[in-house]
Amino acid sequence: MLEYAQKLWKNGIVSDFSDAGKVSVLVHSLHYGAGAFEGIRAYRSEAGRALVFRLREHLERLLQSCHLLGIDAGYDLGALSDACVAVLRDNGLTEAYLRPLVLLGAGSLGLYSKENPVDVMVMAWAWGAYLGEHGVRGGVRCKTSAWARPDPTGALPRGKITGQYVANVLAKNDAIRDGYDEALMLDTRGYVCEGSGENLFIVKSGRVLTPPVSATILPGITRDAIITLAREDGWVVEERLLTRDDVYLADEVFLTGTAAEVTPVIEIDGRRVGGGTVGQTTSDLQRRFFAIVRGHDQSHPEWHTEV
Ligand SMILES: Cc1ncc(COP(=O)(O)O)c(C=O)c1O
Repeated sequence: MLEYAQKLWKNGIVSDFSDAGKVSVLVHSLHYGAGAFEGIRAYRSEAGRALVFRLREHLERLLQSCHLLGIDAGYDLGALSDACVAVLRDNGLTEAYLRPLVLLGAGSLGLYSKENPVDVMVMAWAWGAYLGEHGVRGGVRCKTSAWARPDPTGALPRGKITGQYVANVLAKNDAIRDGYDEALMLDTRGYVCEGSGENLFIVKSGRVLTPPVSATILPGITRDAIITLAREDGWVVEERLLTRDDVYLADEVFLTGTAAEVTPVIEIDGRRVGGGTVGQTTSDLQRRFFAIVRGHDQSHPEWHTEV
């Protein structure tokens, strides 16, 4: 059971989870999945403060997801940012995962949703390494899923939209059932997209490659950070379509995401990746990423909100 923080922010007010954390069974988004959410991490700095990683970009994506759904969240970037800061501060949290959520609330249960109220929440909990400490250090094993990333004809892949995660949940559950740590999802054409909750990178012949946003990936904020850091460190980074054989023949593979951070992949579909251990490029980028999020490397102060 999740150990959530005692206080959450809901519709402008910080309240106790025991009251405000309950939602009605009549919540429209619960039935039909038209809601938007974010996942944001805060890291404890050496000075004991919370450093929220790329808060603005996460909240911009939340508002974009709402825009894609035609939902007016009713709070702007500044108000949502204050809400996240309040949740950390009022819970006394420095190291935490923040989960903003925008739901269409109780009202009509027909599909027409424009008259339903909009509920906006920010909750928090402590979340260790999403793919396990062992996975972050030693790498994870992935299985290609039969569940494809939703196609843009029936979904909004650039949005972090609640109902769009059904295929991802199925993919993740199948991967775990089959003894793997994570699923790799293809697009409907068969190109490799991403993990069930992470973006994917490969390293091949000295270049760092990742599928483009047009490959129906979620445009990850960690992905963007890693592209920036890799280029700063002198790597050629290309965003291009990747096939399964590109990934099988890669020298290194790693996943990026707010929850999974930078996690090496050492095996895919029973095939060893590279030497079957964490590659040098992956571990260099991972080290730099962790130094930045914890504030030890000060080269990107614009990525931090200090609380
Ligand atoms: C499907 C999917 N892809 C990629 C990511 C990585 O995105 P980010 O780095 O912004 O957390 C996530 C997590 O939000 C995700 O759910």
